[in-house]
Amino acid sequence: MKFIVRPLRSDELPELYKLIASLFSSAKIDIGESDTVFVAEINGTIVGFASFSKKSRGFLLNGLGVKEEFRNQGVGKQLLIKSLGSLPRDVPISLKVQATNDPAIALYVKNGFFQKKYGDIFVMVKLPEN
Ligand SMILES: CC(C)(COP(=O)(O)OP(=O)(O)OC[C@H]1O[C@@H](n2cnc3c(N)ncnc32)[C@H](O)[C@@H]1OP(=O)(O)O)[C@@H](O)C(=O)NCCC(=O)NCCS
Repeated sequence: MKFIVRPLRSDELPELYKLIASLFSSAKIDIGESDTVFVAEINGTIVGFASFSKKSRGFLLNGLGVKEEFRNQGVGKQLLIKSLGSLPRDVPISLKVQATNDPAIALYVKNGFFQKKYGDIFVMVKLPEN
């Protein structure tokens, strides 16, 4: 399966919102103009995304998802690696994830995040690299 990971184009927001609605039933993910958003594309269709918003210190990963039929083929990993690579390295990056979401937690741990807060929802952080 061939896919490419690249920044979202502004004219693709409606397509992205459709994907988000299909991935997260209680989607509260809002994409702001200053957010950093990467998408995975297969044959001209967006099949995955990663989005970050700027916080007073660092960034928050506020959404990551891949269409079910394209999971477990490295798309999520590439989305995370490429989008993280586009962000400044000298600030922390945080995220929240359901404690039961093993695939996502495994992906975050492999990419340098550690668990900061436990509970039904984990807070995970990737520290600055310097
Ligand atoms: C989390 C998600 C984005 C991963 O995307 P993906 O394309 O399937 O992930 P990849 O194929 O790139 O796998 C990357 C890593 O994730 C982990 N992983 C993926 N699927 C897994 C599974 N079913 N069980 C355990 N770990 C898994 C593995 O560590 C894997 O690394 P490896 O290939 O080196 O073993 C995808 O499962 C998804 O969209 N889930 C629903 C939305 C969601 O929960 N998003 C996170 C919200 S915080």
